[in-house]
Amino acid sequence: MPAPLLELKGLQVEFTTFEGRGVTLDIDRLEVLEGESFGLVGESGSGKSLTALATLNLVPNPPGRIIRGEVWFQGRDLLRLPPREMGRVRGAQIAAIFQDPMSSLNPVFTVGEQVTRVLMHHQRLDRKTAYRRAVELLETVRLSDPETVGRKYPHELSGGMRQRVVIAIALSCGARLLIADEATRNLDVTIQAGIIDLLTELKCRTGITVLYIANNPAVVAEICDRIGLLYAGQLVEVGPSAAVLAGGGHPYTRALLAAIPRVGDTREVLEVTEGFPPDPIRPPPGCRFHPRCRRASPECQAATPPAVTLGPDHRVYCHHAGWSA
Ligand SMILES: Nc1ncnc2c1ncn2[C@@H]1O[C@H](COP(=O)(O)OP(=O)(O)OP(=O)(O)O)[C@@H](O)[C@H]1O
Ligand SMILES: [Mg+2]
Repeated sequence: MPAPLLELKGLQVEFTTFEGRGVTLDIDRLEVLEGESFGLVGESGSGKSLTALATLNLVPNPPGRIIRGEVWFQGRDLLRLPPREMGRVRGAQIAAIFQDPMSSLNPVFTVGEQVTRVLMHHQRLDRKTAYRRAVELLETVRLSDPETVGRKYPHELSGGMRQRVVIAIALSCGARLLIADEATRNLDVTIQAGIIDLLTELKCRTGITVLYIANNPAVVAEICDRIGLLYAGQLVEVGPSAAVLAGGGHPYTRALLAAIPRVGDTREVLEVTEGFPPDPIRPPPGCRFHPRCRRASPECQAATPPAVTLGPDHRVYCHHAGWSA
């Protein structure tokens, strides 16, 4: 098995709002292996973006705060790096794409200028060489007529084209890890498929490790070697995509899979999980899924579930791991 490129250990993030203070993100252990595509999946508010932000030590403070934990990347704990060194890791070694490309692009510069400036800053290239490289990168992300696209401002491009520009910027410095946080969320289905294809192709070509964040486990499992599921800020299951999708693991994973319609489905009504995800400021004690779990017993409420190994590199955080349906 390849070595971990990124390792989160005992990571806890707390938020203070007018409703109170609570540990919103609480990840026991999560590894992203060198060269793999890892998918982090969870419903809205489960802590996916927070995991990405904590990895980059960018949790907004206030209202948030990393209260404990370690983020190991290439032999260094990123949470303990001096700000200047962390600045060099961001962009140059870990690149990130977020769901709204407009938030990553500057509206007052042409996109060609923006890619050029990143290359001048991080790669120390002169303007002419950086511009030539920028046009090449726009072509790499399959923007046709890259010279013309480079002369346009972000608002003159479609959402899909903007996201391709952001991907070009992310790839410009030869980063080892790419974090794609819902990179296709606001795009039409066909444009989404194009961006996913592009990311898959770039991954094959460059060998970059990808942390892919999304909310649909079936879509993520298709493009990722391994996936991890978050529920209310806690990791509930992690393992090879096929093993997790087989559905023999955490009750939450089973519930999620049962709610997804499949081709050839004969069910007239899809299964739903009663209740709502908990308030992240006041999460329930023990297993955070227990108020909605059919298998819940008193111990689920009393203690944080242990990590139980179900198979090679497949673990589930559940007091009843391994139960059959
Ligand atoms: N700026 C903030 N102020 C207060 N609470 C916040 C803030 N940012 C995040 N949180 C808390 O952290 C939780 C997780 O947020 P996060 O953005 O990681 O969710 P997500 O899984 O990325 O959801 P989505 O799919 O909607 O992007 C939220 O439910 C919220 O309670
Ligand atoms: Mg998010």
